[in-house]
Amino acid sequence: MTAQDFILESYNSNIEKGKVKWSSPSNIALVKYWGKRQHQIPENPSISFTLSNCKTITEVTYTKKEDDGFSFDVIFEGEKNEAFKPKIQTFFERIETYMPFLKDYHFTIETSNTFPHSSGIASSASGMSALALCLMSIEEKLSVIQSPDGKRQDEESQDYFNKKASFLARLGSGSACRSIEGELVVWGQNESTESSNLYGIKFDGEVHPNFKNYQDTILLVDKGEKQVSSTVGHQLMHGHPFATERFKQAHHNLARLKAVFASGDLDSFVKIVESEALTLHAMMMTSMPYFILMKPKTLEIINKIWAYRESTDSHVCFTLDAGANVHVLYPENEKDSVLRFIKNELADYCQNKKYITDYVGKGAQLMKN
Ligand code: DP6
Repeated sequence: MTAQDFILESYNSNIEKGKVKWSSPSNIALVKYWGKRQHQIPENPSISFTLSNCKTITEVTYTKKEDDGFSFDVIFEGEKNEAFKPKIQTFFERIETYMPFLKDYHFTIETSNTFPHSSGIASSASGMSALALCLMSIEEKLSVIQSPDGKRQDEESQDYFNKKASFLARLGSGSACRSIEGELVVWGQNESTESSNLYGIKFDGEVHPNFKNYQDTILLVDKGEKQVSSTVGHQLMHGHPFATERFKQAHHNLARLKAVFASGDLDSFVKIVESEALTLHAMMMTSMPYFILMKPKTLEIINKIWAYRESTDSHVCFTLDAGANVHVLYPENEKDSVLRFIKNELADYCQNKKYITDYVGKGAQLMKN
């Protein structure tokens, strides 16, 4: 599919008002997206586990209006929020071609996260995907080609709905396009899997039972404002001395992971995933300007995980996103022992001893239509 396929040609603008609500999860990348071209096109493919517990719940109320221009209010966790507006304004501008009804309505966007605000957990993936899904549900209602009961007619239109939701979410925040579905989602053209640069697609390969219900405990190391935003970090991959090799490596790691998912080889999984996390941070440390998002406690946790693995037969490993928090990944059958290890040995490194237990999930859910 091309971007052209997502342009809505005609719609029924007689609907005066309505309300839709979605919940959409966060995701954690195993092969990282770091570096993008114009229009949010990734420089390399990425793959992520969709999460279950960490999610954004967004309700959009839309009311017909006459004047021109975008009009919306944002209510975050029960209070009017001005800080999110510029990002949503930019999002609307980017997607207007694909959602021509945006200027016909005033939107009240009520949103909240299941994870604590300022925990350092990025809410852009869950937040932008939830909003994109709400807009898709509105588009579906306004659509002139719908069944009399207003329901989606078949699998094909469900597929279109998910792809367009992911396509729109990508224009809000790249990693958000991997949050629509679960459990493993690939984004970015590559030779190993079915893929697109425009939207995320459910991983089409075989997945060994070892990876079913995989666990992710997020250790909240630092909630501080990030020194450098992801958006700036991505830009710093332009002209980065190691960029070409890094992008090649991501393709290679995705191909390797595909084989690992089929075979259930947890040792190789650990190596690929940890190497990806450290490579992501190595790219930050070797860009110009350079920066470090890990904190001393991030490193202490990594060393503790290595020591634990060394002294047990555990397959626990870590990954990082663009911040200091550590995602501790492990198979479901190690849940009890690893949670004990986290409680006894890692919780002390977390702010207020806080961590969030999560696991792989199936994607976003419609809550009200
Ligand atoms: C390190 O998706 O937050 O988490 O597209 O500029 O919104 P923008 O960036 P964003 O970048 C996330 C990068 C990452 C790795 C990943 O999720 O693949």
